[in-house]
Amino acid sequence: MMSLNLEPFRITRKEQMTGDIYLFRAEKAKAGKSKNKEKLSYQPGQFYQLNVPGLGEAPISVCSYADDYIEFNIRALGDVTDELIKLNVGDNLWVRGPYGTHYPMIDLHGKSLIIIGGGTGVAPLRGVIKYVEKYRAEFDRVHLLFGFKSPEEMLFKKDMELWNRIFDLRTTVDKAGADYKGKIGLITKLVDESGLDSKNKAVIICGPPVMIKFTIQSLEKMGFSHEQIYISHERRMKCGVGMCGHCMISGVYVCKDGPVFRYDQIKNLHE
Ligand SMILES: Cc1cc2nc3c(=O)[nH]c(=O)nc-3n(C[C@H](O)[C@H](O)[C@H](O)COP(=O)(O)OP(=O)(O)OC[C@H]3O[C@@H](n4cnc5c(N)ncnc54)[C@H](O)[C@@H]3O)c2cc1C
Ligand code: FES
Repeated sequence: MMSLNLEPFRITRKEQMTGDIYLFRAEKAKAGKSKNKEKLSYQPGQFYQLNVPGLGEAPISVCSYADDYIEFNIRALGDVTDELIKLNVGDNLWVRGPYGTHYPMIDLHGKSLIIIGGGTGVAPLRGVIKYVEKYRAEFDRVHLLFGFKSPEEMLFKKDMELWNRIFDLRTTVDKAGADYKGKIGLITKLVDESGLDSKNKAVIICGPPVMIKFTIQSLEKMGFSHEQIYISHERRMKCGVGMCGHCMISGVYVCKDGPVFRYDQIKNLHE
């Protein structure tokens, strides 16, 4: 039985990413007077339920890969997330998890990766990329294709500087001022123009449903099979552990059987 117990994590870092999006780092303090940090065990693609006592919970993806801290990228969108982003360094963050399936990173060893993200969908992918940074020798080429609405809404700008040096990073924005030097256009254009072939590659996609749909259509035309594609599916959730049925599509619990699916295993589900 999965744990539904809430645990207090201590916030050790808070960074504003854009107007309403913050990156939080939190650690699990060891009980008693020990200053050692407790080891954590989570995988890229999984999520935690973040709790605001007396108000409710929000599922938030892990966006780091480390065994002594965890990072969450939170957009203020409503009741719970509006309160979460008010927390500060030193405050407790009440969490339960980790829950859900993860990207099968070990199975992807030896392959080239194409990691495609749109908007806040880049956050869970940051966990994947942190894994690849740690186990770089296990992967062949790594291509990052990211789309944002505007240059101001671009996330993880500091990480992007590093990724631009060590990976094949390509970004695009939907719209920008005349002084913007980068690429302007939809993420699907970036995919269409990438010239990438499907040989020995796995594709990992996270973003809004419409972006995932059209990105997969582009990949199909480029010769990718559905078995090569992994997506993360977002649904409204309550329990997060397969008990309430809130997230169910065609008998599949997105919280427990997902949120990460290989595309051929989910493409025929009907809402
Ligand atoms: C597996 C998973 C991972 C997620 N990871 C992240 C993350 O890393 N960072 C992040 O900022 N958010 C993430 N989300 C979305 C986040 O959980 C919701 O924004 C949050 O639950 C909204 O709760 P609230 O109480 O703040 O807003 P509410 O007051 O409940 O809702 C505000 C508005 O948002 C809409 N809404 C709420 N939840 C969703 C949803 N899941 N999909 C579409 N619309 C929704 C509501 O219909 C309403 O219009 C994730 C969601 C899932 C299911
Ligand atoms: S959120 Fe309760 S069953 Fe998935």
